[in-house]
Amino acid sequence: MECIEFTIEENRPLTRKVNLLRLAGNTAAITRPGQFVSLSLPGFFLRRPFSVCDRDDHGITLLVERVGEGTSLLHTLPAGTALSVLTGLGNGFTGGVAGDSPLLIGGGTGLSPLFWLTKELTAQNTKPTVLLGFRTAADVFFEEEFCALGIRPLLFTEDGSAGRKGLVTDALPEIPCSMFYACGPEAMLRAVCESSSGPGELAFDVRMGCGFGACMGCSRATTGGMKRVCKDGPVFRKEELLWDA
Ligand SMILES: Cc1cc2nc3c(=O)[nH]c(=O)nc-3n(C[C@H](O)[C@H](O)[C@H](O)COP(=O)(O)OP(=O)(O)OC[C@H]3O[C@@H](n4cnc5c(N)ncnc54)[C@H](O)[C@@H]3O)c2cc1C
Ligand code: FES
Repeated sequence: MECIEFTIEENRPLTRKVNLLRLAGNTAAITRPGQFVSLSLPGFFLRRPFSVCDRDDHGITLLVERVGEGTSLLHTLPAGTALSVLTGLGNGFTGGVAGDSPLLIGGGTGLSPLFWLTKELTAQNTKPTVLLGFRTAADVFFEEEFCALGIRPLLFTEDGSAGRKGLVTDALPEIPCSMFYACGPEAMLRAVCESSSGPGELAFDVRMGCGFGACMGCSRATTGGMKRVCKDGPVFRKEELLWDA
């Protein structure tokens, strides 16, 4: 973990609720899709965690949904704003075990770490199937960015206004899958686990307390005892999660 100053280079809306932020800074500690960064925002005591959507040697891309005061402020910060950022957080996905037919399942901003994973898999000549779920057509974002990687995502909306009507989990029985990778709301993650017979990894973007392993507020029950999303995750194997404990 490193604390580094990043500078906002770009902060633009993708939908009415989601902004793309490009932050310039040292990315040496950010090495695996599924890792996250934690931003210190002016006027807020607790940092706010966000998955890394993309990285290069000069900076990172984040996709930020406005849900409360911190993310509302973040949406308004102009290019040139300096932010203190904890980098190199989290374990990340194990893309090396994806097999020949990986399936990536994202709900809303949960697609963020899956974009970087898609980039890594396509660079290794593996073509994942990508399922993305949104509420309505107005909430859809990043479809073109996936297409630019050579992967056309299958879209699902709850009201059928874009793509297929229904939930991403509706399609799971139809799709061959050597390994799944999922990120999104917890109810979606549980439904994915229950609908899929194969192995998989899930990235949690739960509400956090301290964010550095002290409060246990983010812990989840696993076969290895209670594990903290912020310190031991955010990625967990399907087989280790105990949903009803
Ligand atoms: C590992 C990790 C990765 C994440 N990646 C992303 C990402 O890529 N993009 C993104 O937009 N968000 C992501 N989040 C969630 C993000 O951190 C929160 O939405 C953000 O901290 C909320 O800050 P706020 O001050 O706007 O909201 P707050 O004022 O803290 O909360 C406002 C409302 O939002 C709810 N809320 C807060 N955090 C969450 C949460 N994590 N899940 C559900 N409801 C919440 C609260 O219960 C409250 O109702 C991630 C979280 C984690 C732990
Ligand atoms: S948020 Fe406090 S232990 Fe994870």
